[in-house]
Amino acid sequence: MKLSTFLFMFLLFVSTITTAQDGKALFDTKCKSCHNIGGGKLVGPDLKGINAKHSQEWLINFTKNSTALIASGDKAAKAIFDEFGKMPMMAFDMPDADITAIFTHVKSLSSANTTEKKKNIIAPPPAPTGNAENGAKLFDGSVSFNTGGAACNACHSAGAFPGGTLAKDLTKSGAAVGAIMNSLPFPAMKAAYQDKKLSNTEIADLTAFLKKAAVDKEEPMPCLGFPIGGAILFILFMIAITIIWRKRKKETVNKAIYDRQK
Ligand code: HEC
Ligand code: HEC
Repeated sequence: MKLSTFLFMFLLFVSTITTAQDGKALFDTKCKSCHNIGGGKLVGPDLKGINAKHSQEWLINFTKNSTALIASGDKAAKAIFDEFGKMPMMAFDMPDADITAIFTHVKSLSSANTTEKKKNIIAPPPAPTGNAENGAKLFDGSVSFNTGGAACNACHSAGAFPGGTLAKDLTKSGAAVGAIMNSLPFPAMKAAYQDKKLSNTEIADLTAFLKKAAVDKEEPMPCLGFPIGGAILFILFMIAITIIWRKRKKETVNKAIYDRQK
């Protein structure tokens, strides 16, 4: 083998390794807070086997600007967007090569053995069980955060708690609070909390509050009881009337005939 060929191969080899590692580092810092590779869905879908599902070009377009791809009428992008509660994934302004490296990493983990996949699952931070009442106060700002960060209702509402409309209602987002507050993937939230990190207790309290808000929202039973009970009573009433009415009618008619024949 010529020396130049050897050097070329060697450089190729080294660059492949670096790209693969960059892909892992990039994935871990930019994507892992919302995506597992084989560990089930987090904020976003599990990316295991995504390379087989979409072309490289599609993956790059989606990552760079999923909103534009959805707006262009792309069916697959629209479907996954709908499936995830129409929460847009933010745009990642990075070179194609970086995105390619990320998906090369995703591909290699997709086909890796189970033990490797397991390692990739992010366990939710071991949070103490939160206090929903404290969480509500933190949410609406009647108690401030230890580092003085903005109250969540500056941008979000949550169930019966009104709030800003800059961001979505958090009633069903309780499970995501830990991951979101630790990674701050949204620019608006990053700006608000980057230097004002919440404590684990505060995160746990907010989580408890939002989980409770979601349960409260799904409890229309007392209201349902009334119309259903009413309907049953109404039917019973109608049956009773029919029976009474029938008897009466029979009696009168029979009696009339009987009387006539006499
Ligand atoms: C803050 C959370 C979040 C982060 C961070 C994030 N994503 Fe997403 N991602 C989502 C959500 C939510 C969806 C579901 C699609 C939608 O709602 O638009 C999604 C969907 C996707 C899809 C489409 C999956 C499919 O099954 O079609 C790809 C590909 C993807 N993300 C790649 C990435 C990459 C690459 C990164 C890192 C550079 C990343 N995402 C970072 C939330 C996130
Ligand atoms: C400066 C505005 C702002 C503040 C303050 C803010 N957020 Fe957000 N948040 C956003 C934006 C923007 C998004 C992106 C999604 C959207 O558009 O709703 C978001 C998204 C989220 C999500 C992801 C939603 C989901 O369904 O996955 C969670 C969870 C969340 N915020 C929790 C909080 C909590 C808890 C607080 C208070 C500690 C808070 N946010 C304060 C702007 C804000």
